[in-house]
Amino acid sequence: MRTPIGSRSAMNEVDLDAIHNVSAFEELARQRMDPGGFAYYSGGAWDEVTLRDNVAAFRRRRLLPRVLTGVAEPDTTTTLLGREVTLPIGLAPASQHGLAHPEGEVATAAAAARAGVVMCLSTWSNRSIEDVGAQPSGPRWLQLYLLEDRGLTADLVARAVAADFDALVLTVDLPVPGYRERELAVRFSPPQSFGNFPAAPGPDDTMMEMVGAVHAQGLTWDDLAWIASLSRLPVAVKGVLAPQDALLAVDNGAAAVWVSNHGGRQLDRSPAAIDALPAVVDAVAGRAEVYVDGGVRRGIDVATALALGARAAFIGRPYLYALAAAGAAGVSRCLELLRAELVTAMVLLGVGELGELGPQHVL
Ligand code: GLV
Repeated sequence: MRTPIGSRSAMNEVDLDAIHNVSAFEELARQRMDPGGFAYYSGGAWDEVTLRDNVAAFRRRRLLPRVLTGVAEPDTTTTLLGREVTLPIGLAPASQHGLAHPEGEVATAAAAARAGVVMCLSTWSNRSIEDVGAQPSGPRWLQLYLLEDRGLTADLVARAVAADFDALVLTVDLPVPGYRERELAVRFSPPQSFGNFPAAPGPDDTMMEMVGAVHAQGLTWDDLAWIASLSRLPVAVKGVLAPQDALLAVDNGAAAVWVSNHGGRQLDRSPAAIDALPAVVDAVAGRAEVYVDGGVRRGIDVATALALGARAAFIGRPYLYALAAAGAAGVSRCLELLRAELVTAMVLLGVGELGELGPQHVL
């Protein structure tokens, strides 16, 4: 059955001040979202080993505090691809924010701009590049899938340039969707159209079928060079776990390498993102920025990621669930909680600036 755009049960407003942990948004989202949309957001691939391990791997790490360091008010600002951001935390691309909230990606963009963090818009967004570009300006990146229709892909890049986006993020780990049983169980079919495509889903089209039909297959590193040649925007390559691939990405012009297993939605039993990070950082050896996503639920996760060499950590499900719970205000609260936790972690680790975080802080 199709669900109307942004349909939500009548629910009391969420008291955001009573939320002290971004994981609390998940249950609120489950209560508010259509079950199909929630299955799509929450699910992983196969047995969901990687989905769970993304979170668990952060919690296996141990942090070594330093004392009497004089740090009182640490600075959380940094730059990502040359643009200043208030936090080393960004909003990872995720398709269909309209499943969470009627304002969709426009609400997310507004919250990200207010917080001064990167928002990465998905190719498969419900709202268009232009809708998001019209929001108060903030650091904004466009995530690209290489589509079977090359003209459409090139057009997306031209539209991102025209809308003042700052970077492109080429996702390379989804030539076909992973085997996602939660989506299969509900036969998840996108309930609304996509902002960047002319094609509207038919009532019987599942998301996995649409993705399979639209994404190009058999891609190679030459395709990265092609994307890079379409504009002057820096290109990050997202979905890298093997250090060899990180090296190839940099050799083929990537300005950033984004360590990710797609939130555990692609190849199950691939390593947890934080566990894959150190070898990628070593391989890249400072020639490009390195980011990580997957399992970030706490400011101490962000500190861990930076200590292990990431320049930024991106969140996915936490901000989607916050969007479902309370729209833009929910996303703002989610970022505020992570910011506060990160600041506390920095004081306890004795670092006044993000650049001081290093492997010496992680056991
Ligand atoms: C799309 O990127 C998905 O993971 O469904």
